[in-house]
Order: sequence, then C-alpha cells, then structure tokens
Amino acid sequence: MHCNFFKDKIALITGSSRGIGSAIARKFATQGADIIVNFRKSGGKSQEQGELLCKDIRDMGRRAFLIQADIAVKESVKEMFHEIDEKLGRLDFLILNAAKAPFKPLEKLPERELRQLVETNYLGNIFCVQAALPLLEKSAGKIVFISSLGSRFYNPAYPLGTMKAAMESAVRDLAESLSIKKISVNGICGGIVKTDSFKVLRQYWEELDQIPDELFVEPDEIADAVVFLCDPASRGIQGQMIVVDRGLSNRLYRPFLKADKKQELSY
Ligand SMILES: NC(=O)c1ccc[n+]([C@@H]2O[C@H](COP(=O)([O-])OP(=O)(O)OC[C@H]3O[C@@H](n4cnc5c(N)ncnc54)[C@H](OP(=O)(O)O)[C@@H]3O)[C@@H](O)[C@H]2O)c1
Repeated sequence: MHCNFFKDKIALITGSSRGIGSAIARKFATQGADIIVNFRKSGGKSQEQGELLCKDIRDMGRRAFLIQADIAVKESVKEMFHEIDEKLGRLDFLILNAAKAPFKPLEKLPERELRQLVETNYLGNIFCVQAALPLLEKSAGKIVFISSLGSRFYNPAYPLGTMKAAMESAVRDLAESLSIKKISVNGICGGIVKTDSFKVLRQYWEELDQIPDELFVEPDEIADAVVFLCDPASRGIQGQMIVVDRGLSNRLYRPFLKADKKQELSY
C-alpha cells in the first residue's frame, strides 16, 4: 500500500453501520481516511451501531460522519450527497455495499418484493453513482461494488444473486464510460461471510453446515481487498471483479473433505 495515500481522503460506505460495511469503514479509517457511515433505518439498532462505529473511528483520530439515507429512494440519495458536498465538499471513494433482499425463490416473490429487490440492489446503487459523479470527478475517485458468489452460482432462495449479476455488468459498463473522467470502477465478489444475513441464509441452505470453517471469509478480508482497489497499487485494474472467497468457488467439483482426508488425498 502507498504510504499516506489515504490520509485525509474521504470514503463513503453505503449500509455500513454493521456487517461487512462496518469492517470496510474501519479499514479505511486505519489507513488514515475520513469516513461517511450510511445507514437506512432511523431510531433503531442500525443507527445505534452507526453511532458507535463513528465514535470508534473518531477515537482512531479520524473524522466520521453518520448519514441516514435509503439508497432505494432517489430523493434520499440526492440529500445524502448534498449533505456530503455541503459539509465536506469532497469524496474520494464510493463503496457500494448496502444490500437487502428476501431469501425466497425468485418465482415466489410477490410484486412488492420484486420491486424492492430491484430498487435497493440495482437502482439504489446506480442512484448513488449518478449523485456521486460531480464529487468523484473532482477527486479522480474510485467506485467499488460489493458483489457475492450468487452473481454467478446458484444459491438456494437467493434472488439477490440476479441483482449482483446485473451490477457486475454495470461495473464493466461504468468502468469504461467513466474512465474518461479518471474514475475507476471495480468490485469484490465475496464468498460466504458470517454476518447477520448469514443467520437467515442458514435456514434456507442446509448444506451450508457442511462447508468447513476455513472456507468462510472474514469481513476484514473483504475490507482489505476493497482498500487495495482504492490504492494506487491497483491502478492497472479496471472494470474487474476480484473474487475473495478463500477458494470456495474453485472447489465446485471437490467434496468438502475433513482435514485428515485432505492429507490422504493430497497430490
Ligand atoms: N454476508 C455474506 O455472506 C456476503 C457475501 C458476499 C457479499 N455480501 C455482500 O456484502 C454486503 C454487506 O453484506 P452484510 O452481510 O454485511 O449485510 P447485512 O449485515 O445485511 O447489512 C446490510 C447493510 O445494508 C444496509 N442497507 C440495506 N438496505 C439499505 C438501503 N436501502 N439504504 C441504505 N442502507 C441499506 C443495512 O442497513 P439497515 O440495517 O438500516 O437496513 C445494513 O447496514 C452486501 O452487499 C452483501 O450482498 C455478503
């Protein structure tokens, strides 16, 4: 990593009061960046966790700003970026992390949930990109989208995968069209991470318990890869998804072997 590159730069991580987003926020702060923590639901656990996260970041000696905004609502996104412009006048890194979707088979989603799926996980991300452009253009900033293996492999009851696939395509599209503005666009395709959403996923995906512990990704591992994509060391990477899954997707045709078996079969 480049020494002091992140110092006094500003990162916005959508949906970052908990889970992977909060690990990304902490990682940027340890690198010296100031952080905008975004959350959706006011007055509840999300806001509480966002306030605690901001306190931790300030204790690290960085500036932290907590902004409520629902990315699925264009007006709300516009207000968030207006506030960022007014208060800070700068944005270097836009990390598209927020996501929300029911765990149900696609064919069983009622219209309301289908619309929410698209509004939060596709439109919401594009609204953020559009609203961030004037600031990112000034800083020759970076956009990093957080995707998942569901974008390319079947996961039971995971309609979010279809939106992840659409966004991975949007990453390639935006990378090309924004390169003229010197804005880089890439993504991280994460394996399985034990966050709040994992508890729900377990109810629908029995085989999850057969996956050995060493194949679960830590939020911090995703965060390291995100920061790498914002560092000048990654300057040659444009319009790409980096898979951070501890090799899980590489094992499609290999059974999950216990450690002793693995030893026997190693060649
Ligand atoms: N967990 C995994 O196994 C895994 C694997 C690969 C990739 N990912 C991806 O990594 C990202 C984070 O996942 P996670 O597991 O940390 O998720 P999570 O624990 O469910 O947290 C999601 C965050 O997004 C926020 N959010 C949801 N809808 C929003 C909206 N409309 N506007 C603003 N914020 C919103 C939530 O805020 P509220 O609480 O206020 O709703 C929450 O803070 C997601 O994009 C996910 O798809 C996850």
